[in-house]
Amino acid sequence: MNDTNTPRYFGQGMRAAANGGTVQQTTDSARSAHAERTVRTSQGAPTPVLHGIDLVMDYNATSHSTIQPGQPPALNHANFLVGEGERVAIMGPSGSGKSTLLHVLAGITKPTTGRVMFRGADIDRISEADRTRLRRHAFGFVFQSGQLLPELPAVENVALPLMLSGMPYSEATNHAVMWLERIGLRQLIFSRPGEMSGGQMQRVAIARALCVDPAIIFADEPTGALDQNTGHEVMNLLMDAAGANNAAVVLVTHDSNIARYCDRVVHMRDGIILDASSRPMTTAATVVPATAASALRNPSQGVAR
Ligand SMILES: Nc1ncnc2c1ncn2[C@@H]1O[C@H](COP(=O)(O)OP(=O)(O)O)[C@@H](O)[C@H]1O
Ligand SMILES: [Mg+2]
Repeated sequence: MNDTNTPRYFGQGMRAAANGGTVQQTTDSARSAHAERTVRTSQGAPTPVLHGIDLVMDYNATSHSTIQPGQPPALNHANFLVGEGERVAIMGPSGSGKSTLLHVLAGITKPTTGRVMFRGADIDRISEADRTRLRRHAFGFVFQSGQLLPELPAVENVALPLMLSGMPYSEATNHAVMWLERIGLRQLIFSRPGEMSGGQMQRVAIARALCVDPAIIFADEPTGALDQNTGHEVMNLLMDAAGANNAAVVLVTHDSNIARYCDRVVHMRDGIILDASSRPMTTAATVVPATAASALRNPSQGVAR
């Protein structure tokens, strides 16, 4: 079959992968390997990959706000730090600011005041184009309902972030198939989200988050719409895949059984992180300042070893 007859999402490389290309499986050993690979300083604390400093998010201050004046800010001088390869769970009651914190840390929402540093670069002071590049190359996202595009098959949903970053179609879909195989969804590569279970959709969302080889995965209630067993399956997959890639995980959950997958749990209330300083972290002085561009080009830059 030549390319003209090939279904449009079936690039040559992708066909090879779909027909038995070697695919590395994630295993339980990924978790222990992860612990060894987490970058640590000589003091034993993880080197920061992301640092939210004195973050205030006051939706009252935005011009389109419809909320009552006088409501406390969604983030009230919150500080948050995650190390390279570290997994941190954020817990707290509904409305305590967890999603807002995640969006601010990921550069999706600009805070009213405060700074977010990614490997030493202030993500609020870089250009919009650089920030978009950062989100696409360095960050992966998994949300409660997956947020897959309903009209696209799984393979294109996963390939989309890669194509947005400029990767050619066949290469991107090839990579997407590899990731879908890794998470056990080879048989569903052409299925659309409407044809999948909730757990399968979340696994596709995990493949989409991981395929950009992110430094950090942000997950907002990723198991919130799943039954307990499926939730644990999805968490095992997420953590194994993140561990195999040495990606840090920032996980929002209200479920302490899900938070247990992380190395550390921080609690939020009324926009305040109650125990951010519960663990010693590397001081900023040990990190070589980096620009967003250099942090992206060379992930090890800015990492104290
Ligand atoms: N886009 C928005 N506009 C106005 N207020 C918002 C917006 N998003 C969240 N909030 C408010 O900010 C507070 C924190 O919300 P959120 O971060 O969604 O909390 P959580 O994820 O912990 O449930 C809540 O009072 C919520 O109503
Ligand atoms: Mg939320």
